Formats: sequence, structure tokens, C-alpha cells
Amino acid sequence: MKRPYIVELPRFLDYRGNLSFVQEMDHIPFKIQRTYWIYDVPGGEDRGGHAYKNTNEFIIAMAGSFDVTVDDGTQQKTFTLNRSYYGLYIPKGLWRKMDNFSTASLALEFADTKYDRRDYIEDYSEYLKLKSNGEI
Ligand code: TYD
Repeated sequence: MKRPYIVELPRFLDYRGNLSFVQEMDHIPFKIQRTYWIYDVPGGEDRGGHAYKNTNEFIIAMAGSFDVTVDDGTQQKTFTLNRSYYGLYIPKGLWRKMDNFSTASLALEFADTKYDRRDYIEDYSEYLKLKSNGEI
């Protein structure tokens, strides 16, 4: 099974401020088909409790901080994203949720598929069943 991992992005720091960037097939290990962002999350709210059958993704905390918990059906790992020069790569087939959003946080997400709700697994027990059958 592929594992999620953190990518440290380039940083150019000078007296005018900082600049970072990402390139597809480089820092982001796929061709980008879609970019979306999550913002104005009220205190205490969770997002993204689901898995994708076929979507790989890459998440950056452009502002503020939040936690991303990734679960392969047997193990869970929580990544705290709190710097805009780190990205989290999450391969397809893993359950993931986002919570602990700080005030004014901004989550930027890149995906290698167009939006298609049929790619979502939204029920955790169904996810476990598909995992145990080796279907994802
Ligand atoms: P959803 O994926 O359920 O949000 P989250 O997983 O963060 O809780 O998406 C919320 C709504 O936005 C849902 O109605 C579908 C829509 N949406 C799109 O139209 N395009 C997209 O790329 C995404 C991610 C969501």
C-alpha cells in the first residue's frame, strides 16, 4: 500500500517576504486535474471524512493550521499542517479527515481527477469492507 508523506517545498526568503511554489510531477507526484480550497471553517467543524477510490491528492495549509488524519483501515496517522511550505501527499484508497482548523485557515488541495462523486467512499464501514476484500 502506498503511504502518505510530507513534502518540503522550496522557500525563497528575503526582506520583501517569502515565496514558495509547487510543480506537478515534481513536488506534487501527479498531473493536476483539479484544485480546490477550504476556508472559513467554523471552530470545531470537521471536513473530508471519506476515501477516494481513484484520486491522489496533495494538501497545503496556505494559512493557519489544521490536522489531517489518514487511516488505512488498521492504522491511523495524524499530520498537523501549519506552514505553507509543507505539502501532504495522500495516495488514493485511504480514509482521510480534516479537523482542528484554526481561525482564518486556508486549505489548498490538488487532485489528479476531475470532481466525480462516484469516486467517493463516504461510509467508513463500507470502506473497511472494500479494504478487507482488497477492492481498493
Ligand atoms: P465535499 O467533498 O463533501 O467536502 P469535504 O470532503 O471537505 O467535507 O464537498 C462539499 C461540496 O462541494 C459538495 O457538494 C461537492 C462540492 N465539490 C465540488 O463541486 N467540486 C470539488 O472539487 C469538491 C472537492 C467538492
